[in-house]
Amino acid sequence: ATPEPLRIMISGAPASGKGTQCELITQKYGLVHIAAGDLLRAEVNRGSKNGKLAKEYMEKGQLVPNDIVVLMVKERLLQPDSQENGWLLDGYPRSYSQAIALKELGFEPDLFILLEVSEEILVERVVGRRLDPVTGKIYHLKYSPPDTEEVAARLTQRFDDTEEKVRLRLQTHHQNLEDVLSMYQDVTVKVNGNAPKTDVFDRIDRLLAGLLEQRKAAIESL
Ligand code: AP5
Repeated sequence: ATPEPLRIMISGAPASGKGTQCELITQKYGLVHIAAGDLLRAEVNRGSKNGKLAKEYMEKGQLVPNDIVVLMVKERLLQPDSQENGWLLDGYPRSYSQAIALKELGFEPDLFILLEVSEEILVERVVGRRLDPVTGKIYHLKYSPPDTEEVAARLTQRFDDTEEKVRLRLQTHHQNLEDVLSMYQDVTVKVNGNAPKTDVFDRIDRLLAGLLEQRKAAIESL
């Protein structure tokens, strides 16, 4: 028998490195990465009614209403690849009501990772972040610059990545964090996210490898 796939949640302030760590985690563990922010930005780019409404909230750094977000994430989680390979939920749930909705559907994490980063560093990361619209890869002008001129020339910036907007997003994060944590106390691990991205990943990698080891040992002892 093979062990059950992993179910992981990753949380943290804006620009704490969730997306960056998710890239590294999916490369190594093959989990399905489901990022609430990415699903919402795709809807905004489609120009749908929900996308237009979502953008109004995102520009203010506020949570997009549940009737838009909850269904989007639920549909993605229910797809066969998420069930078979395991999932990595990024930026979801962000409120008590979202956590309850997930629990009612039977989605509970094996591990809830909280990336902790100081506010000064967060602002610097937001302002220097750039995205490659072709590959979806995340860069930073100072900390992870692109390797080629070709990629550098096509990088874009997110509409909510200004110092003013990140402060609003941070406020929303602080308002909701305790409520979300209260749902996952027994599986929460706080990870220092101030370190370089490979060091942060080493810590997360050890946590995930440990979980898989435990599962294998449990099967072998049957
Ligand atoms: P979302 O897209 O989730 O944004 P966020 O939480 O603000 O997080 P970010 O994507 O900004 O940052 P990140 O932690 O992924 O950092 P990254 O790895 O890119 O949400 C956007 C909006 O959508 C919300 O404001 C809200 O309106 C709405 N929304 C989303 N989820 C919702 C929900 N559940 N309910 C309702 N509304 C919702 O890294 C940042 C930068 O730092 C990059 O440039 C990177 O290269 C660099 N970097 C990363 N790690 C390191 C490191 N260790 N050292 C140096 N540089 C690093």
